[in-house]
Amino acid sequence: MKRIYVIGAGSIGSRHLQALKAVKRPLDITVVDPAPGALRRAEQRFLAGRGKTRHHTRYVATLPHEHSAIDVAIIATNADVRRQVVEALLNRADVRYLILEKLLFCAKPDFSAIQTLLKRRRTKAWVNCPMRLMPPYRDVKTKLTTTALSYHATGSQIALVTTAIHYLDHIAYLTGCADYRVDTSFLNAKPVPSKRKGFLELTGTLLFQFSNGTIGKITSYPTGNAPTMVEIATPDLYYLVREADQKTWIAEPKHNWRWLERSAPIPFQSQITTGIVESLLAQGTCLLPTYRESAALHLPLLEAVRTFLNKHGRKKYRYYPFT
Ligand SMILES: NC(=O)c1ccc[n+]([C@@H]2O[C@H](COP(=O)([O-])OP(=O)(O)OC[C@H]3O[C@@H](n4cnc5c(N)ncnc54)[C@H](O)[C@@H]3O)[C@@H](O)[C@H]2O)c1
Repeated sequence: MKRIYVIGAGSIGSRHLQALKAVKRPLDITVVDPAPGALRRAEQRFLAGRGKTRHHTRYVATLPHEHSAIDVAIIATNADVRRQVVEALLNRADVRYLILEKLLFCAKPDFSAIQTLLKRRRTKAWVNCPMRLMPPYRDVKTKLTTTALSYHATGSQIALVTTAIHYLDHIAYLTGCADYRVDTSFLNAKPVPSKRKGFLELTGTLLFQFSNGTIGKITSYPTGNAPTMVEIATPDLYYLVREADQKTWIAEPKHNWRWLERSAPIPFQSQITTGIVESLLAQGTCLLPTYRESAALHLPLLEAVRTFLNKHGRKKYRYYPFT
């Protein structure tokens, strides 16, 4: 049986777990979370998940000692404890494949420390930025004739910083360009509490200028309930995604720029992780961005928003208070 660990069984961790139920080969799954309520809810979600394979599961409050080899570990805690969790795990067991939630870490030195540890322990790691796996966001790549995009994502209260990494990753996937600068001058000065306790969020607009000419603009309105909309424009394509409607609208010169409406279901995390883990177990790789790629995308964003907070607030941050 392949051995899987899910560490952090909160909102997203429990969805990863639910997805494991549908993995076709039998798994030996260990779920770790110090919060009994989180473990209970995760177990309920697992039991409610789809899939007929008989997996073995156990739910524990602390990292067990007895396993020296783990096939896949998913780290779905918040960012503040992610480094210590990864270190504790890798110092205890050989982990072949690691999936880390975003945002990766709350401090700059954590990025290189974990990179070094992964190399030393020969663990291959990916970061859960799954837009590049989702059909409407993947398909647009086949339609692009240029990689210099105008990319806008807009919505009300979309948790700007934690969401921005998804859009940055999508842009990097579409364009092949990961080199960007951040303009924070259109952000609202006052941070807001994150829905995850102890963390912050920002509202307003983050502007990204990529070295290949792509402009990314991510806007979170502080009020209202405007649904999230992603607009990608080039001289040869207008491409619009509204996730809440599960639809895309596409306009191209070959159709005289007429809008064509397509159905575009966005898979849930409780479905996506099934394929990721099956791919890791069968092929030793998956379609998520690698740790190295994603770390390089995280740092300019996190440094820019930290500098922004320090410029506008009384408290001076040496870490990133985001998750
Ligand atoms: N990739 C995505 O699309 C996506 C979606 C949602 C959340 N996330 C990210 O996932 C992370 C978690 O978000 P969430 O909403 O699930 O938060 P959450 O607070 O619901 O869950 C975090 C869980 O980690 C547990 N935990 C804390 N310390 C631990 C430790 N040392 N060992 C094991 N478990 C520990 C907590 O008890 C909690 O149950 C965040 O960084 C968030 O940005 C990513």
